[in-house]
Amino acid sequence: MSYNLLKGKRGVIFGALDDKSIAWKIAERCVEEGAQITLTNAPVALRFGTLDELGEKLNAKIIPADATNSEDLDNLFKESMDALGGQLDFVLHAIGMSVNVRKKKEYTDTNYDWMMKTFDVSAISFHRMLQSLWKLDAMNEWGSVLGLSYIAAQRVFPDYGEMAESKALLESFARSFGYHYGNRKKVRVNTVSQSPTVTTAGSGIKGFDDFFNYADKMSPLGNASAEDCASYCVSLFSDLTKMVTMQNLFHDGGFSTMGMNPAVLND
Ligand SMILES: NC(=O)c1ccc[n+]([C@@H]2O[C@H](COP(=O)([O-])OP(=O)(O)OC[C@H]3O[C@@H](n4cnc5c(N)ncnc54)[C@H](O)[C@@H]3O)[C@@H](O)[C@H]2O)c1
Repeated sequence: MSYNLLKGKRGVIFGALDDKSIAWKIAERCVEEGAQITLTNAPVALRFGTLDELGEKLNAKIIPADATNSEDLDNLFKESMDALGGQLDFVLHAIGMSVNVRKKKEYTDTNYDWMMKTFDVSAISFHRMLQSLWKLDAMNEWGSVLGLSYIAAQRVFPDYGEMAESKALLESFARSFGYHYGNRKKVRVNTVSQSPTVTTAGSGIKGFDDFFNYADKMSPLGNASAEDCASYCVSLFSDLTKMVTMQNLFHDGGFSTMGMNPAVLND
């Protein structure tokens, strides 16, 4: 069902790899709500993923950009403004990748080059993206920028590796840049802390299935799906949430507030 919440708005969506990606669902919902968008991903992901399919379906231009490269980002935002016909109203950062987790390196035996790469891809790219938008003056007043986060930024989830620190950094960038962008142009910057979700990045975490089921049981509403996340992000891109900024917003069925749930103990 569409409420036309994003009618006339222009946006850029990072991070849709395949139809399991959270960003894929968000892109679909944004267009359903009346937005025009461009889609972007790293050049290598465009070769392995299925983004072309989404681009065709949504009539959205695909512009490759490595989110760790400022030149790519500048080009992406310039091309997006050209393609969409003006400044942007919303941007989604849905990027995450841990080299140590992918290579199954224990947290206590972390490879620091890989850790730096993880921070660069998963968190510094958010700052880089905001800085590029800022320098190009690519955002409209009252625009909205979102990053996707996870509760491992605040609590310990042992198998999440240095992604925990990446998410803490991501959330901190949202607060700090949110201050500057709010002052300058009333642009709001937030992170959405999403439930575990079955995607390529999510399933790369050791023991993901057990953990997914644990979180589902622990949360009074169950895990939030990617589709639910998409609806929540639409609300945060819309004018209905104009005064929300510099927040980390939990979208997790209540998980983050739970201490103990008998449903888990009884199992
Ligand atoms: N899946 C979960 O359980 C879960 C939970 C909370 C938050 N998140 C976050 O949601 C976001 C989206 O992840 P997802 O679960 O949909 O998985 P996904 O694997 O579909 O998406 C991750 C994306 O990051 C992109 N990416 C990696 N390196 C890049 C680079 N250098 N430049 C540009 N893009 C790059 C990948 O190509 C991919 O499209 C991530 O930030 C992730 O941490 C996921």
